[in-house]
Amino acid sequence: MGEAGESAEEDSDRSTLEFASLSPDLFDAAPDVVAGRPVPFIKDVPIPSAMSIPLSERVAIPELGPDDDGREVVVAGWIQEVRDLGGIAFVELRQGTETGQIVLPKGKVDEDTVDTLVEANRESVAAIAGTVQESDEAPGGFEVLPDEAELLNEAQTPLPMGVVDRVDTDVDTRLENRFLDVRKPEVQAIFAVRAAAVEGGRQWLQEEGFTEFTSPNIIGAASEGGTDIFEVQYFEETAYLSQSPQLYKQMMMATGLDKVFEIAKYFRAESHNTRRHLNESSAFDCEVAFIDDEDDVLWVLENLVHAITSFVDENCTEELELLDHEVTVPDTPFPRVTYDEALDWTADDVEEEVAWGEDLSTEAEYALGDIMEEKGHEYYFITKYPDECKPFYAQPEGEELSRSFDLGKSGMEVTSGAQRVHDPDLLRQRIEEMGADTEDFEDYLKPFTYGMPPHGGFGLGIERIVMEMLDLHNIREAVLFPRDRDRLRP
Ligand code: AMO
Repeated sequence: MGEAGESAEEDSDRSTLEFASLSPDLFDAAPDVVAGRPVPFIKDVPIPSAMSIPLSERVAIPELGPDDDGREVVVAGWIQEVRDLGGIAFVELRQGTETGQIVLPKGKVDEDTVDTLVEANRESVAAIAGTVQESDEAPGGFEVLPDEAELLNEAQTPLPMGVVDRVDTDVDTRLENRFLDVRKPEVQAIFAVRAAAVEGGRQWLQEEGFTEFTSPNIIGAASEGGTDIFEVQYFEETAYLSQSPQLYKQMMMATGLDKVFEIAKYFRAESHNTRRHLNESSAFDCEVAFIDDEDDVLWVLENLVHAITSFVDENCTEELELLDHEVTVPDTPFPRVTYDEALDWTADDVEEEVAWGEDLSTEAEYALGDIMEEKGHEYYFITKYPDECKPFYAQPEGEELSRSFDLGKSGMEVTSGAQRVHDPDLLRQRIEEMGADTEDFEDYLKPFTYGMPPHGGFGLGIERIVMEMLDLHNIREAVLFPRDRDRLRP
């Protein structure tokens, strides 16, 4: 646990150093003792008093209902709205995506308690100890009559953006104040769905015998080609932020762990700002050994997508209701469309023809998405890409093709993958052909010369699939703190 500027020796004797080097005047011995030594505290720094309302006994507002009539509870959350009608006031207290009503009949509830709540600014955090009473008028059929209220943190005014106001806030303001933005139930719902998508996918992969692994994000050689890469200073050397775990997941195939996955981070220095690109994104990166061909990988991918969508469908009912959206759980197997068919089918629908050998244009991708939608398929594979538009690690087939594929969802690429080259000589040759120095790839190439089985895999973009599942217009909606060409903070 070395901090900046500490040597290993200093660190090993950390506790002695810390206490010896600070002036004794700074400390008073507190009555508490931890591990046999007094706990020091710094003088003159106000220490918050213990809460008079025990927050640890907090009851979740969504769990309460009219049946709890008479129950004594502690509730806490954000003050969303105060309505002071003179003789009586109501406070809407929000927790997560739900609100509960606090009723303040003046004269019946202690004056301090009424003032604390009624005078608090919107979005302040408060705790209330009181009694639940059934109420036909209150949302959820209950309200809380307080005995005591405590303001835990007062929100300043004006708020940088509204939480419940009906006015639309522009994307920049929302992203700059993401903590407030996520207080909106419909925004919170997106991230609950994203978490469920990750959980559902991870669960299925584990059930299928995949081992989760973690690869380094600071790397010595580019994995996905040279230009779109962030350089970092690594002591005396230049290092890079990983564009994907590609080389590492392939190296894992030489270990005997035959099925691996990582919930990976991709860092890509692509300078264009589009609605579907991020400079830092996440993906399910999977790799499988001992495959016959790429079809074995397609099976994994279509079943993973099926597992993700069904998990979200089954576990996010309330969130999907809030978002007024249904998730399609696709039937498997997904249709396979070859690259040649994709070009042929979309030729009349695109203004700029895609030349054979080029990657599909965005226009062609959307056109294919429409055609597939008409045929009743949201998800479809595009297979048998030309070798020249796929990376060096993809297995060529015949003279011109490659065992590579993409997964499309309504016109959006959500996954790329391939059977990989596992022959070291061919791999070397392909690295040279792309103009790179094989010296830079020696660590990657080594496992291929000491027993590497045939293998393949894919990278499934998490923001892309969440965006597509929920029909979000901009990928930035599917990531809490997006990194794009203009955004490095917060
Ligand atoms: P590729 O570069 O196609 O392939 O990436 C795989 C998937 O990751 C997502 N993705 C992105 N999402 C948002 N912003 C970006 N800038 C971005 N770049 C990629 C997409 C894409 O389909 N190593 C290979 C995968 C493999 O063969 O295993 C790779 O990275 O959903």
